[in-house]
Amino acid sequence: MKITKSELEAIAVKPKQYPSEELPEIAFAGRSNVGKSSLLNNLTGRKKLAHVSGNPGKTRTINFYRINDEFRIVDLPGYGYAKLSHSKTEDWAEMMETYMSKRPNLLKVVQLVDIRHAPSKLDIQMYEYLQYYGLSGIVVATKSDKISTNQRQKCLKIIRDTLKMDKEDVIIPVSSLKKTGCDELLEQIEILLASK
Ligand code: GTP
Ligand code: MG
Repeated sequence: MKITKSELEAIAVKPKQYPSEELPEIAFAGRSNVGKSSLLNNLTGRKKLAHVSGNPGKTRTINFYRINDEFRIVDLPGYGYAKLSHSKTEDWAEMMETYMSKRPNLLKVVQLVDIRHAPSKLDIQMYEYLQYYGLSGIVVATKSDKISTNQRQKCLKIIRDTLKMDKEDVIIPVSSLKKTGCDELLEQIEILLASK
């Protein structure tokens, strides 16, 4: 698949603000700063479609991007942002829970983790949550440019084992800096869209 058209369609903190349910959605979840917005820009070939920042906690809303007028990629707010107050963390949890448990057109949530580190407690919790809702199965290991090629398989195995991924679940190393891994992810998205 090639992405030829992409646009920000809606920014939401509650269901009333979600766009219509007519298009299938694939969401990106992961720790703040892991590279969700960068990946979206890379996939669409648009450097400034989603805001990217070195400061964690950049994306605080649920952002719906309409792709090829065929489906949506949904950029979810990151978790594990230490500076967030307790009440803001609760807002985040409610916003995520509401979206993930009540969105009939949500096909899958791609979980992003940093390739350099074993998944954190929060990453594990998130993946278990996705498994519970039947939304798990695709993990993207970001920032693969930061490790050498011979470390790669070892890092991917640590992630697979720590998240207790199923055998048939896929893990894709990507680098938004080197622009690698996008074709593999788009291929998975294509399979998902075809199977719905
Ligand atoms: P929140 O919006 O806070 O949840 O973060 P995010 O997951 O959207 O992360 P974002 O895309 O804003 O990227 C965070 C930082 O990581 C930025 O400084 C990016 O330039 C950097 N970054 C993202 N992807 C890569 C990558 O593949 N390689 C390298 N080296 N840096 C990356
Ligand atoms: Mg972001």
